[in-house]
Amino acid sequence: MVGDDGLFDAVVARTYDDDHAARFAPEVLGPTVDLLAELAGDGRALELAVGTGRVALALADRGVDVTGIERSRAMAEQMATKPDAGRVPVIIGDMAATRVAGGFSLVYLVYSTITNLLTQDEQVACFANAAAHLLPGGHFVIEVGVPPLRRLPPGSNLIAHEASPTHIGVDEIDVLDQSMTCHHTYLRDGGTSVFRSHHRYAWPAEYDLMARLAHLDLAHRWAGWDRSAFTAESTSHVSVWRKPPT
Ligand SMILES: C[S@@+](CC[C@H](N)C(=O)[O-])C[C@H]1O[C@@H](n2cnc3c(N)ncnc32)[C@H](O)[C@@H]1O
Repeated sequence: MVGDDGLFDAVVARTYDDDHAARFAPEVLGPTVDLLAELAGDGRALELAVGTGRVALALADRGVDVTGIERSRAMAEQMATKPDAGRVPVIIGDMAATRVAGGFSLVYLVYSTITNLLTQDEQVACFANAAAHLLPGGHFVIEVGVPPLRRLPPGSNLIAHEASPTHIGVDEIDVLDQSMTCHHTYLRDGGTSVFRSHHRYAWPAEYDLMARLAHLDLAHRWAGWDRSAFTAESTSHVSVWRKPPT
């Protein structure tokens, strides 16, 4: 239900920045914002699934006019508690369908959040919605993991990816319907909390097809925000599609 997200609820929203502190590190956020600011140029930027404003507020700091779409009211409210959050207006809605007035030179969707759309139809709609917001020559950027199937132990559908004193993470894969459930247990303040998120993964080629359906052309595919080469060993990609100039 839009605006009442059962997953990114008030409890998750309150601890989101701490739980994802590594993503706020200057060495991660710096190159992210460098690339996005370059692509935005003098135009406006739209972040799909803006969350608590991790990227949008840093991009606004660079002087870019940023607007966000966010489904979870709790995440948007958490963002609103931050200094200068008012510089980034947030529209509560579904990124696959919600329209924001005006044209944008950049639409972006980071941190594998395209996978939060659980069907191919929703992901196709999201690409179409991104394209509908773009001015001719504008760019759509996604950052998303490569499906981790090569890490599946033979005979298992589980991938353990972290077991630290504060976090245990296990991904559960269903190769038949391209779905992945991420199980997280956080240990803090003497207690534990559990968070499960559901995803639909796709290979880069499927995203390229979604982009083609939305009349966008692939401009770049890098392994990360540092613009390093995407290779067979890459575990994620930053892909950039361009709306043809008219
Ligand atoms: C992993 S967080 C990423 C937040 C932010 N982009 C960042 O990089 O820190 C995923 C966010 O996507 C939002 N989200 C998930 N599905 C969405 C949808 N269909 N429309 C809009 N927001 C959505 C969630 O509420 C959550 O805030």
